[in-house]
Amino acid sequence: MLGITGSIAAYKSALLTRLLIKAGAEVQVLMTPAATSFISPLTLSTLSRRSVYTQVSSEDSWNNHVDLGLWADAMIIAPLTATSLAKLANGLADNILTAVYLSARCPVFFAPAMDLDMWMHPSTQQNVKQLQTYGNHLIDVEEGELASGLSGAGRMAEPEHIVQALNRFFNRSLSMSGKSVLITAGPTYEPIDPVRFIGNHSSGKMGIAIAEEAAARGASVTLILGPSALQPESESIRLHRVTTAREMYDAAMAAFPACDVAIMAAAVADYRPATAAEEKIKKKGDHLELQLVKNPDIALTLGQSKTPGQYLIGFALETHNAEAHARGKLQRKNLDLIVLNSLQDEGAGFGHDTNKVSLIRAGNKTRELELKTKRAVAADLLDEIESLFTEKN
Ligand code: CTP
Repeated sequence: MLGITGSIAAYKSALLTRLLIKAGAEVQVLMTPAATSFISPLTLSTLSRRSVYTQVSSEDSWNNHVDLGLWADAMIIAPLTATSLAKLANGLADNILTAVYLSARCPVFFAPAMDLDMWMHPSTQQNVKQLQTYGNHLIDVEEGELASGLSGAGRMAEPEHIVQALNRFFNRSLSMSGKSVLITAGPTYEPIDPVRFIGNHSSGKMGIAIAEEAAARGASVTLILGPSALQPESESIRLHRVTTAREMYDAAMAAFPACDVAIMAAAVADYRPATAAEEKIKKKGDHLELQLVKNPDIALTLGQSKTPGQYLIGFALETHNAEAHARGKLQRKNLDLIVLNSLQDEGAGFGHDTNKVSLIRAGNKTRELELKTKRAVAADLLDEIESLFTEKN
């Protein structure tokens, strides 16, 4: 089911319809009344070989939006304007498209299209997040020249990219089945005394996104998660909560022999207080010295015991000579792939829902990814890992 709303990008819907038909889909087009000013229903009915619905009812007929909602295997709303986005986020059903959206039980994909400032507006961003919390899948806007003459983010994803995103979604469910994936995520807390600890700003979001994505692809996932306020939603993920680096190390060592892929996304404290005081340390002089001792390096240890069928992936966060340091870690820890986090870019790193990373493999050119949601980064990372499997065979 293809829903089209009133944006200039609607002219691309003709190509999108053709690509979907070519890919073997049956396409039922729904249009909001505003969309019909941008592209004619006749064009789309000719391409889709079906009548196009533009209204819930006309003088002598009523289009059953509930039946349409149940009929579709997927609903793609492209382009989605800011207004229609706001309606969907708030459950308004004032036209055939919004009514079918509310009735649809299938996966829903939406490809927004609007001007740069409308896209960046907090209310739009809030509405996008709202749809994502309903389980709908964002096909992100792309950057470039906009109809207003401005240039920036807001263009609807190209029809080819929309079809690729759908293909990824529908093929993915099986692409990692039979694989066992171990993921470390979040910070570690190293106790100083019963009330204080040494920790870091890791939220665990990146590692949780990887766990969700791997589970969605059918992998058997074990997530070893440090003290993060978050947790994965998928019930198929085996969640192992830990607090300290040593607990994380023990859990990872126990799970590693049975896994095919281990992804070290945790921000592990390199050092811990030599002793944790049993009672709260009371304030005394002007100085307090803490003696720290080294924690075990989980990635390094797993790299040493890795067998030929196993893949080990690390993360690096560097402030200077980033790529050289990341490549050093790749080699030293015997990793197959390292994900280099960028700290420079706004919207990347700790606590954000988006991230900007580079994927680095020994002997290969660094692959720099755009700023995207952590879930989309997880998808790219798992695509890269899946290609490691196929290269090996
Ligand atoms: N790592 C780990 N156990 C540790 C420290 C790090 O498993 N005790 C993993 C991280 O999860 C990450 C990778 O190793 O995947 C690199 O972490 P980082 O802290 O950047 O590496 P270090 O070797 O500690 O390097 P640095 O000298 O920059 O602190």
